[in-house]
Amino acid sequence: MADVFEKIAQIKEEIKGHVVSNSEELEQFRIKYLGTKNILKGVFAAIKDVPNEQKKEFGQKVNDLKSVAQTKFDELKGEFTGSAKAEKDEVDLTLPVDVNRPGGRHPITIIRDEIVDIMSRIGYSVAEGPEIEDDWHNFTALAMPDNHPARDMQDTFYVQTNPDILLRTHTSNVQIRVMENQEPPIRIIAPGRTYRNETISARAHCIFHQVELLYIDKGVSFADLKQTLLYLSKELFGPDTKIRLRPSYFPFTEPSAELDVSCFICNQEGCAICKKTGWVEIGGAGMVDPAVMEACNIDPEVYSGFAFGMGLERIAMLKWQINDIRLFSENDIRFLQQFEGL
Ligand code: PHE
Repeated sequence: MADVFEKIAQIKEEIKGHVVSNSEELEQFRIKYLGTKNILKGVFAAIKDVPNEQKKEFGQKVNDLKSVAQTKFDELKGEFTGSAKAEKDEVDLTLPVDVNRPGGRHPITIIRDEIVDIMSRIGYSVAEGPEIEDDWHNFTALAMPDNHPARDMQDTFYVQTNPDILLRTHTSNVQIRVMENQEPPIRIIAPGRTYRNETISARAHCIFHQVELLYIDKGVSFADLKQTLLYLSKELFGPDTKIRLRPSYFPFTEPSAELDVSCFICNQEGCAICKKTGWVEIGGAGMVDPAVMEACNIDPEVYSGFAFGMGLERIAMLKWQINDIRLFSENDIRFLQQFEGL
């Protein structure tokens, strides 16, 4: 039993005689004697082998050791800061800041600006709509009446207890707002924030961004949609990009399609990003359903048009091979700094 008591005495001497010469060594002292896995804990664990009549004394000795360690740490710290030793280590707060760090755009902003720029070159102008929206503009006017099963695809946040007011689940509400207020020809791009009641994970977030395209005029055809998407894809991902439209379903477009672009990571050789298919999904599109135009008082006998929507986080993740969507909203400077100058 003498052993543990001897050990305590020995550690005490060690602590008392400890010297540090820089902040790193001070930190090592702290970790060793005061950190979550400090050696005093190991010593204390020996209490199970101490005879009962000595347990009290043992406990007191270990506690004493703890306060010796704390006092020594405070002393070293005090002596250390403000002394010559400290000077070579610590930051001089009177020095001017680095003026060459103006910050940069957020990666989502970079992608958004790029897409807006690409589309503005072929005559699209930016339109905006509210993020807090009513049921009509987010769902009903888009041919998703109450009880429509497609509403389930978009888990919705409702505002307070009013089932008529919600956080928009997509930027398609802007289609409705623009068609209600503008005569064709309409050619708009609507970037913005969208919300869905999703569990946050590396792949999904409840707050994300979309970009919507809407083109309404006389004689707009599916061929126009396809050519527009080809133009956008080539400008965004490079001139060799190919596109593929897969049949799909959205209540507000008919026919509807999903847009895939040829995998620009592996050049269609097959990689983890495209799951060896050579294609990556980019967004949804289709010809605006006549019922949607009618809801906005546009005559579908005279006009036709197409719409397209895509998620910006997804594009940014593909483009820069970012594997966790949460990085976009955490504001970790180490992440954001990598986009400076882009
Ligand atoms: N709003 C659809 C979505 O969020 C995407 C879309 C937009 C589909 C426009 C077709 C036309 O899933």
